[in-house]
Amino acid sequence: MTKHRIVVAGCGGMANRWVDYAKAREGAEIVGLVDLYEASALKLAERKELNVPVFTDLTAALNETKADLVFDVTIPASHKAIVTTALEAGCNVFGEKPMAESLADAREITEVSNRTGKRYSVMQNRRYNPRIRALNKLVAEGGLGQLGAVHTDFFIGAHFGGFRDEMASPLIIDMAIHTFDQARFITGADAVSVYCHEHNMPGSWYKGDASAVCIFEMSDGSVFTYRGSWSAEGFGTAWDADWRVIGSKGTARWDGRTDAVAELVDTSGKPGFTANTVSHTLAPDWDGRLEHEGCLDEMFAALEAGRPAETDSLDNIRSMAMVFGAVESAKTGRKVNLS
Ligand SMILES: NC(=O)c1ccc[n+]([C@@H]2O[C@H](COP(=O)([O-])OP(=O)(O)OC[C@H]3O[C@@H](n4cnc5c(N)ncnc54)[C@H](O)[C@@H]3O)[C@@H](O)[C@H]2O)c1
Repeated sequence: MTKHRIVVAGCGGMANRWVDYAKAREGAEIVGLVDLYEASALKLAERKELNVPVFTDLTAALNETKADLVFDVTIPASHKAIVTTALEAGCNVFGEKPMAESLADAREITEVSNRTGKRYSVMQNRRYNPRIRALNKLVAEGGLGQLGAVHTDFFIGAHFGGFRDEMASPLIIDMAIHTFDQARFITGADAVSVYCHEHNMPGSWYKGDASAVCIFEMSDGSVFTYRGSWSAEGFGTAWDADWRVIGSKGTARWDGRTDAVAELVDTSGKPGFTANTVSHTLAPDWDGRLEHEGCLDEMFAALEAGRPAETDSLDNIRSMAMVFGAVESAKTGRKVNLS
């Protein structure tokens, strides 16, 4: 088995989980830590009992450690510089979402990935959940018939502090990337257009607009709507969002917490004013690990098999197009074509 020599860039909150993963993985070794603030890197090294050099510059770290893999756990504004530096230096990259802070930057990263032949796989942990997999399977096998609509609610009053409080469009750029990517995963379709209205709730603690309503037209002819807020107090939804998926044969609902349920038209009896339906609980359908660990397992498996990971940047750019199409629509007040 190839031994991966990993440099971790970004030593904040999320880095803890990535470091724990790497420490536990056979065939992986953390060989350096990078942060803009040396103290943050030193603290992480101490907390995780890592006896490795720390750096404030990625290029210096890569030169000195001869790493072949970079974990990018920096903030969104730094992803482009970190990822392109790593790819140009001949490393593969596994990184936190979102790929970048603009679609142009994300496209530039995919160009560098294509040119260097190095992979950049993006953390979309919300695909690694047995319940969303069950929903994906139901749709893929035609259990709901032809899809007509997917409606999603995401409401969480999230008091993070830090970079999200300052950034423009924190909900759409930092969070909705998950929900939009989940919509692509559930439907198997890409978005072809978006209309988005962003706003900020009264009392919001975010500088940028932290609430939004979006309408997407999807490539399978269905409509995907998203209503979300990061500053809505009370009646919080799950982080995985609350879903209603409607097809020609019935509807599936998933509250993002418990097993998804489908109500399918029962064609055996005499049709009434409303059709009789039969309710099915969807059996969870995934025996891999969950969330981050599941996504990282897939990234390593793909790298070792020489294939793109499910969440390779060349796929993830289509979820990013939804994000930045929504931002553009909110700015211009117009529907934006994505195809
Ligand atoms: N997938 C998820 O569920 C999930 C959850 C939380 C955060 N995230 C993502 O993880 C990433 C990090 O989030 P966080 O909460 O750990 O942020 P954080 O602010 O706690 O940590 C980021 C760290 O990166 C460092 N940094 C910034 N620019 C750098 C650069 N150019 N070079 C080196 N270090 C740099 C900062 O100094 C900081 O220590 C973000 O992209 C965020 O969106 C994902």
